[in-house]
Amino acid sequence: MRNLKKTYEGWALITGASSGIGKEMARELAKQKFDLVLVARNEDALEQLAQELVSKHGVQTRVIPLDLVQDGAPQSLHARVSDIDVGLLVASAGIDEMGPFLDKDYAALRRMLRLNVDAPSELAHLFGRNMATQPKQGKKRSGIILVSSLFAYQGIPNFAVYAATKAYVLTLGEALTAEMKKNRIDVLTLSPGLTATPFAAGLKLNAARLPMIPQRPNSVARVGLRNLGRKMSVVSGPLNKFYAWENRLIPRSWPVNLFGFLIGHAMKSYQRRQAKLNKANKARA
Ligand SMILES: NC(=O)c1ccc[n+]([C@@H]2O[C@H](COP(=O)([O-])OP(=O)(O)OC[C@H]3O[C@@H](n4cnc5c(N)ncnc54)[C@H](OP(=O)(O)O)[C@@H]3O)[C@@H](O)[C@H]2O)c1
Repeated sequence: MRNLKKTYEGWALITGASSGIGKEMARELAKQKFDLVLVARNEDALEQLAQELVSKHGVQTRVIPLDLVQDGAPQSLHARVSDIDVGLLVASAGIDEMGPFLDKDYAALRRMLRLNVDAPSELAHLFGRNMATQPKQGKKRSGIILVSSLFAYQGIPNFAVYAATKAYVLTLGEALTAEMKKNRIDVLTLSPGLTATPFAAGLKLNAARLPMIPQRPNSVARVGLRNLGRKMSVVSGPLNKFYAWENRLIPRSWPVNLFGFLIGHAMKSYQRRQAKLNKANKARA
């Protein structure tokens, strides 16, 4: 793994550090001796991770339990680390709200918009401003990784708003890569495909029915860290890369309809399995 300490300095702040891709980002960065600010809601999980990283790698950690959906959360986070130099920001916290758009409770969609869209944008703005003005040693730079998704590359029926939040992150990240170059800030948008985390396990669909190979969260985290400062955006995994690439060659409606068909089947398969399980549980009771 490339040594990021040669290029970046300061603390690394990771949102979504209690689980999945964010947690693996924290483990990789601690291995490279970055001091870490760990952010998510689950304080116990963050404390446990902090203890692991301190004892294994001797780094400093700061645990900040925070619900990023709450009003003013990004500003409050920024204020709580105003005494340290944050040189790397990884915005991994995110949720999905799957299901037919018209069946969704709009309040739940609004929470997702705040977490997946508002929070990473505002954090990039707050910490980007600091990074642009912080004096750096020698040729050192700052870095921002925004976690998007393969679903950002086309509309996805039954994930309509989720896919749109991730398309926002991808578009934002690409523009910021170009804009912030002059400030010596590298911005990378990381787009994972299906990844074996609690996020994927909670999806109400039978993922085995999708033509996707689930990746491990540590592989995805490493793809992100390896490509920071080298690319504008990266899709993790060769099959996922192919899906994102071939979209550019065909009419926009084709991948939308294909994903709609595949996800519809995977959802029906999940519902059939749940119905069978419920029936078996009732028979046992
Ligand atoms: N797994 C996949 O298949 C997949 C595919 C494409 C993209 N992604 C993206 O990858 C990112 C990481 O997801 P993951 O797969 O690692 O899922 P995960 O294991 O469920 O992690 C999600 C993280 O977000 C945090 N989070 C959720 N709600 C929050 C809130 N209101 N405030 C603060 N933190 C919150 C969670 O911590 P707490 O619950 O402790 O708050 C957790 O640390 C997400 O942005 C997701 O959209 C995942």
